[in-house]
Amino acid sequence: MTASEALTVRWDAVMMPNYGTPPVAFARGEGCRVWDVDGREYLDLIAGIAVSALGHAHPALVEAVSRQVATLAHSSNLALHEPGVRLAERLVELLGGDGRVFFGNDGAGANEAAFKLARRHGRALDPSGGRLEVVAAEGGFHGRTLGALALTGTRAKREPFAPLPGPVTFVPYGDATALEATVSERTAAVFLEPTLGEGGVVPPPTGYLRAARAVCDRTGALLVVDEVQSGIGRTGAWFAHQAEGIRPDVVTLAKGLGGGLPIGACVGLGPSGRLFAKGDHGSTFGGNPVSCAAALAVVDTVEREDLLTSVREVGARLATGLRTIDSMLVDGVRGSGLWLALVLTRPVAAEIEAAARRAGFLVNAVQPDAVRLAPPLVLSAGQADRAVAGLRAAVGEVERAATVGAARAAGASGGIHQDEGVR
Ligand SMILES: Cc1ncc(COP(=O)(O)O)c(C=O)c1O
Repeated sequence: MTASEALTVRWDAVMMPNYGTPPVAFARGEGCRVWDVDGREYLDLIAGIAVSALGHAHPALVEAVSRQVATLAHSSNLALHEPGVRLAERLVELLGGDGRVFFGNDGAGANEAAFKLARRHGRALDPSGGRLEVVAAEGGFHGRTLGALALTGTRAKREPFAPLPGPVTFVPYGDATALEATVSERTAAVFLEPTLGEGGVVPPPTGYLRAARAVCDRTGALLVVDEVQSGIGRTGAWFAHQAEGIRPDVVTLAKGLGGGLPIGACVGLGPSGRLFAKGDHGSTFGGNPVSCAAALAVVDTVEREDLLTSVREVGARLATGLRTIDSMLVDGVRGSGLWLALVLTRPVAAEIEAAARRAGFLVNAVQPDAVRLAPPLVLSAGQADRAVAGLRAAVGEVERAATVGAARAAGASGGIHQDEGVR
């Protein structure tokens, strides 16, 4: 039995089955490379689901976290501390100033805080409780806690855990007309991702966020932009919504912010930053000094190494390369920066993910027909080229298997059908 197999047996014996059984057991990482417990090396093109912004074991992150854990690891919210204040100042500055931050531990927690801000906002506008509706997008994803789940636009994820907080009304993502028709004087807030992440890296049409901003301005609803996956440089801008030139009322962050250390942030801009009163919300670990030091190291490094430019350039190179994969299984490439999906003509993403992994490339079947790439922001041009070659080979392997399978099926049924994908 390999070390991976042995660890997997132990995992299956003690872990709740909510994640299924992950197919790989990591031991360590360095830059964009990770090694499993059997010593096999992989090129990491998923970064722990868009988290390891600086790659693995970046010296700046190691130094900042080591120094902070040796100085002051924890304070709770009974004390304030320099790394927390400094990080909040940096985030507010990057978001255009005049904002206030609540720190949590993850993306769901950041959205829970935003949901509670929406309730405060709604009740301030209508104390009788007639303004509590939230509008969110079909196919959107905001987390797994009950509040964040209530905002998540996949019925199958929500229904087993009903009843959830509400009312939440879902509109088709990217459809500005539907948004304008739905958001009203009863709406407390609109929650939107600037591009659907878990939905399959689906950007909306240009102007969608501007339309959302306009309808929120007209009705007085808060515009909450969930940048948990898209924020901190993933698209080549600090925040994806900046491409539309809008200023949201609330921005939620997590994932890449801590570069691998757990931290989430709910940033209220303008009056939204003053909606919570003392005692309205809290978290024992939220904004702890170690996670804040990690996030400061991420922000400083993105700036110092000009990673936003690199994300745009390497991302464009990666997207261009992926577009050259000529296969009946590939329909195109979606996304921007280092946040891309290889869009498929059939639901074979899991097979492509597995074939890529066998060849030493980590990608993610984010949807049955979409393979997501969200590598560390430090991915080099050479690594992007290797990624394209790896994906090309993985797609080719799955296409050959599909072709052989189709030919066998056709043989068994006594004829070859034109639409079985034999090229
Ligand atoms: C846009 C978005 N919001 C929220 C979340 C939830 O984040 P977390 O898993 O850290 O709770 C995710 C996670 O994938 C996400 O992509």
